[in-house]
Parts: sequence; C-alpha cells; structure tokens
Amino acid sequence: MVFEAPTMTDSSRTWVEELYDHVNQHAQAEQGLLESYIEATEGTESDALAYLVGLIVEDEKRHHRMFSEFAASLQHGLNWTTSGNKVPAMDFYKVDPARIRELTDKSLEYEESDLAALKDLHKMVKEAKDVTLWDLIVQIMQRDTEKHISILSFIKHHLN
Ligand SMILES: [Fe+2]
Ligand SMILES: [Fe+2]
Repeated sequence: MVFEAPTMTDSSRTWVEELYDHVNQHAQAEQGLLESYIEATEGTESDALAYLVGLIVEDEKRHHRMFSEFAASLQHGLNWTTSGNKVPAMDFYKVDPARIRELTDKSLEYEESDLAALKDLHKMVKEAKDVTLWDLIVQIMQRDTEKHISILSFIKHHLN
C-alpha cells in the first residue's frame, strides 16, 4: 500500500485543509492500486490467484469509496455545506439507547462466539495451510469478525 508523505505544513492552512489533501491523495493512490491489481490478474489461468486478488479488489473498491466519501465530507466541512455528505454526523442521540444497547450486546455476544468458533475452525484447517486456501479464508473471516466487533463496540460506547 502506498502512503504519501504529508505535504509541508503551511501555517496558513487549516487542519481540515491539510487532512483533505492527505485523504484525497490516499483515495487516488488506492484507485491506482486497484487498477494494478485488476491488470495483474487479467487473463490469468490460476483460479486461486484470481480468487484471492478478487478478495483484495472487493476491499480496495470499498476503501476507494470510503476515502472518496471521507474527502468529500471534509470538503463539506470546509464549505459549511451538508447536503449529499455521505459520512454522517455522530447522531446517535436519535436512537433509543436501550433498544440499541440490546442490539449491540446481543450482536457482540454473537460475534465473540463466532470468533471462538473460527478459532476452532482455524485449528482444524491449519494442517492444510500449504495445500488449500482454507486456512487463509478462516484467517480473513477472523479479521472481519474483529472488524465487526470494533464497529459494534464503537456504537455501544457512544450511545450516550
Ligand atoms: Fe486499501
Ligand atoms: Fe460478523
């Protein structure tokens, strides 16, 4: 992954302006990376390579979208506009905290047990890690589950 060094700090520029440039650069770098992934596997005879790079491409498409939305959101911040902003404000005050706490607690419990089940599964497929993609697939799912736990914990933490 290519990370651009931040541009020289000019004291006349605001933090949001600096951040905007940085995020925008990153969104562009991700787009370039995405194209090179697609190019590198075009016409490959290897199903395994196509499958695995396909997983990365899915993520990179989402990263590119998220970074573009993040940059646009900063632009909205600079222009004091809100219409069409895809990154919502932290408006958790609009939810019923009791109901959402119940949802996050239940979901966190589920995700934690999912993590434990994946750990067991990992032990079972570990043996085949040099001859199949299974071990890698289980590892990816473990990381996705950790991501879900982070999202749910964030919501829970900010309920009130
Ligand atoms: Fe990325
Ligand atoms: Fe999950």
